[in-house]
Amino acid sequence: MNLHVGSLRTNPLASCIAILIILSWLPAAAQAGWRNTSLSPDERAAMVVKEMTLDEKISMLHGTGMVGLSPMSPLAVHSNGGAGYVVGVPRLGIPPIQMSDAAYGVRSSGENGRYSTALPADVAGAASWDPEAAYEYGALIAREMRAQGYNMTLGGGINLTREPRNGRTFEYLGEDPILAGKMVGQVMRGEQAEHVMGDIKHYALNDQESGRNAVNVNIDKRSMRESDMLAFEIGVREANPAAVMCSYNRVNGDYACENKYLLTDVLKKDWNFKGFVVSDWQGTHSAAKASAAGLDHEEPGEIFFGDALKKEVESGKVPLAEVDDHVRRILRSMFASGVVDYPPVKSVVDVVGGFEIAQKIEEQSIVLLRNEGGQLPLDVSKIGSIAVIGAHSDVGMISGGGSAQVDPPGGNAIMPPGKGNTYWQAHIWFPTSPLKAIRAGAPHANVQYDPGTDPSAAAAFAKKADVAIVFAYQWESEGMDLDSLSLPDHQDDLIAKVAAANPHTIVVLETGSPVTMPWTDHVSGILEAWYGGSRGGEAVARVLFGEVNPSGKLPLTFPRTEADLPHPHIVMPPRESTTGGEPDAWKKIAAGLPAFQITYDEGLKVGYKWYDAEHKKVLFPFGYGLSYTTYDYSDLRVTAGKVVNVSFKVTNTGNRDGAEVAEIYASLPESAGEPPKRLVGWSKVKLKAGESKEVAIDIDPEYLSVFNVERDAWQLIPGSYTLMVGGSSQTLPLKDTVNLK
Ligand code: BGC
Repeated sequence: MNLHVGSLRTNPLASCIAILIILSWLPAAAQAGWRNTSLSPDERAAMVVKEMTLDEKISMLHGTGMVGLSPMSPLAVHSNGGAGYVVGVPRLGIPPIQMSDAAYGVRSSGENGRYSTALPADVAGAASWDPEAAYEYGALIAREMRAQGYNMTLGGGINLTREPRNGRTFEYLGEDPILAGKMVGQVMRGEQAEHVMGDIKHYALNDQESGRNAVNVNIDKRSMRESDMLAFEIGVREANPAAVMCSYNRVNGDYACENKYLLTDVLKKDWNFKGFVVSDWQGTHSAAKASAAGLDHEEPGEIFFGDALKKEVESGKVPLAEVDDHVRRILRSMFASGVVDYPPVKSVVDVVGGFEIAQKIEEQSIVLLRNEGGQLPLDVSKIGSIAVIGAHSDVGMISGGGSAQVDPPGGNAIMPPGKGNTYWQAHIWFPTSPLKAIRAGAPHANVQYDPGTDPSAAAAFAKKADVAIVFAYQWESEGMDLDSLSLPDHQDDLIAKVAAANPHTIVVLETGSPVTMPWTDHVSGILEAWYGGSRGGEAVARVLFGEVNPSGKLPLTFPRTEADLPHPHIVMPPRESTTGGEPDAWKKIAAGLPAFQITYDEGLKVGYKWYDAEHKKVLFPFGYGLSYTTYDYSDLRVTAGKVVNVSFKVTNTGNRDGAEVAEIYASLPESAGEPPKRLVGWSKVKLKAGESKEVAIDIDPEYLSVFNVERDAWQLIPGSYTLMVGGSSQTLPLKDTVNLK
């Protein structure tokens, strides 16, 4: 609109038009208040809530359906192909919420005629122990979300690895609450800085997939506050995420999405969470009870938080103020993350930029587990031939499945062109060929491939080469748990036979969970590459040839055998606690399937805390990872003032540049009744060959505390604390003790 002030003064017609235009703006004047970006998100949200009718409010409290999950509403067509669509309030200029899953990249982009980068799996991101990498991880996802028209992610999984056979372990950030909480906080910050609403999930204790809609998790308060819930607490504190997704399971009797203790007492009151609680898809089981417990928003449809909730409000059973609070929280998150002021604009994804970031993060996440006799890095000037074996490594690398699945460009790399559609729980290989990358890295060597399907033939093939590199995988996905931690499809046999034939055998693992390795002592090198994302092949080759010095460390323990896990078997649901593919399964789920029980009686002893406390030897400990250089730790100083400060020196004593994850653990006083030690801080330190750096870290007092159930608060137990520093949970050369009151 171009109106010149001069023309208003001289032209009566122009004046009339101007007055009419100003009058036509009047209804919008009501919006003007909350359009003021200098007001706080809370003030803006409160202003909008005042303007809304009850119907408009209710419409914000539920999604409009998701393909394949009943019931659907006609409005779901606006969903942009994502998992959730929430109508906005166009009258007031409030945009819709467009949600997509985006654990390691934006889901279903191929299905929707679009493209997104596959980052290394979330567990790999955690293995980088690099907060900057985690931030970049989130920022990339958010940019690609916006390019595809979404303004809210459903990534951010941080269920702790209590049960490593959980099929979603690859989507989570390992077994330690401080590592997981800090890293997810960085992912969320990266996402929200790009004006996308972030979400942390699945709150809480959804630690196995089997029977997830029915299971009742029994666990004592102290254990849950200090483990699984602590990860969420830290994530919320670090990043103020727009949303927290409550999980499918029950916790101590109540479904997580109608669990007052989880949602209101702890999340909203104790942690002062300002965003909204969204139910997992079909994780809502009531209107009045869930609303009162603190659920703000139902997905994917409106079984409870549509007409049913409206009726409860009209009959006075649910106070209007409660509904207003749900709506206010959603609007507040929209303002705080900027999705109202900076709506997404569809555009072309930066494919090359995405490749570069995915590769860089994978290069920081690969963990070197074994390197006998300095077998790695491979010296290309001395190698005449390389046998590359197994796991379709001629064409691609595997990815994790379920709602996290990112679509590979061109379809599944192991299928003929056009035949590799992704579908629920398909085993998808990304087109990043380790074979090609190895050939490019060793252009003068004879590099040949064998599929590894016949172990004896593969061994004969390996025998003729200077070096054998066996790729091995274990696929996992939402909606299933692993039968065991053994590699499937006779891969243990394959590796054992190849290793017997060639003394220079290197194994590259593509897994989302730890695996057992009966052949460990017989191979000369092992790399854990996780699910490596769009550029996994290139990253692995660069580590093999030493262009990249590995710096990842394990975010979870690799046990020697499943018999050493807290629960030798996963508790499976009885038949009546499951549904099949029947069309009205959603009704049974909504009504609540009969509960079956899991008791996490290992309590506080999650991951390394279990093995430490039970004196069980492990295959590779939490925090472990080798490098092509060596590091020395010295000069520890622990000072206790207002906070405990830990400082020390790390020196790169080898002749290669590298980055060392320096870890700090604490043992609490005996009277605290805690497992032997816990991670309380770390720093990833970049060091040139020969360089030393001083590291100084303030330890958050909560990380040294225990949760006192009687007082319902964190408490520092007076006594003697031992702080230990080093390169893994089991290699801690520095130690000092401090008395805390
Ligand atoms: C998963 C969530 C996911 C949702 C939407 C559920 O089955 O548990 O993690 O965000 O579906 O796709």
